[in-house]
Amino acid sequence: MSTYAIFGAGGGLGLALTQELRKRAPDATIHAFSRSARPDTLSSDNNLQWHQCSDDILETVTKAVHQWQADGIELNGVISTIGWLHQVHPEHGEWQPERRIEQLNGEQLQAYFYVNATLPALLLQACKPTLPKKEPCFFAQLGAKVGSIGDNELGGWYGYRASKAALNMLFKTASIEFKRTHKKLILSVIHPGTTDTKLSEPFQERLPKDKLFSAETSAERIWDVIEGLTPEQSGGFWFWDGKALPW
Ligand SMILES: NC(=O)c1ccc[n+]([C@@H]2O[C@H](COP(=O)([O-])OP(=O)(O)OC[C@H]3O[C@@H](n4cnc5c(N)ncnc54)[C@H](OP(=O)(O)O)[C@@H]3O)[C@@H](O)[C@H]2O)c1
Repeated sequence: MSTYAIFGAGGGLGLALTQELRKRAPDATIHAFSRSARPDTLSSDNNLQWHQCSDDILETVTKAVHQWQADGIELNGVISTIGWLHQVHPEHGEWQPERRIEQLNGEQLQAYFYVNATLPALLLQACKPTLPKKEPCFFAQLGAKVGSIGDNELGGWYGYRASKAALNMLFKTASIEFKRTHKKLILSVIHPGTTDTKLSEPFQERLPKDKLFSAETSAERIWDVIEGLTPEQSGGFWFWDGKALPW
């Protein structure tokens, strides 16, 4: 029986990816991690275990990994949707992506790097003991096209762009190491396309309608990308249609 983990399952894309996984793997066990409570839409899924996390998702995942190890469970795949672009911080107030150099501040930059780059890498580290060494497996993290340095022609969104670029480097570097020990593991960073979620909501106004996708459409495409990748392609950075994005 297959076992999958989804980190950030309560977000716009996280929920849609969880629902799409259930369609594609009707009998699989799914471990969904989120700081929010289990949504009603998933209440009748008996093979889905909802792990509601404290603010520190890493702690909850680490505990779950210890339990899986004790139970002899290996993961067939992991998807992490974790990332942020704007938020209302409990102490610092509203944090919007910075358009000008004057708007940079250390705390906000640090928070971008921690959540968008460091946390995904630490989650990969935490999962390592349950990733099979000889069987096919994947760990896909959602990234962003604006994290491409080569594709950056517009500027702006300093912290988000830079942290997503750092994510790419961390996953590329890990893929080189894992190729030695986990020959069939596929690490990937995937750009979902601009998707109608809370994250993109404040920036949708000037977007042409055909450039904004529903979470369900994006989830189908992301799963298609994951299913189409081979171990030789591990460490890549992919557009939602499966084409490689420039670093
Ligand atoms: N929507 C787009 O147009 C778009 C475009 C390009 C890239 N992306 C990327 O796609 C991913 C998913 O975005 P979305 O559109 O689904 O946005 P979303 O609804 O805001 O979901 C973001 C997810 O990140 C998790 N998260 C954020 N901060 C966290 C923290 N400090 N600790 C733990 N988890 C945290 C949330 O977890 P909880 O479940 O615990 O709330 C949530 O599930 C992000 O990485 C984003 O950068 C989105």
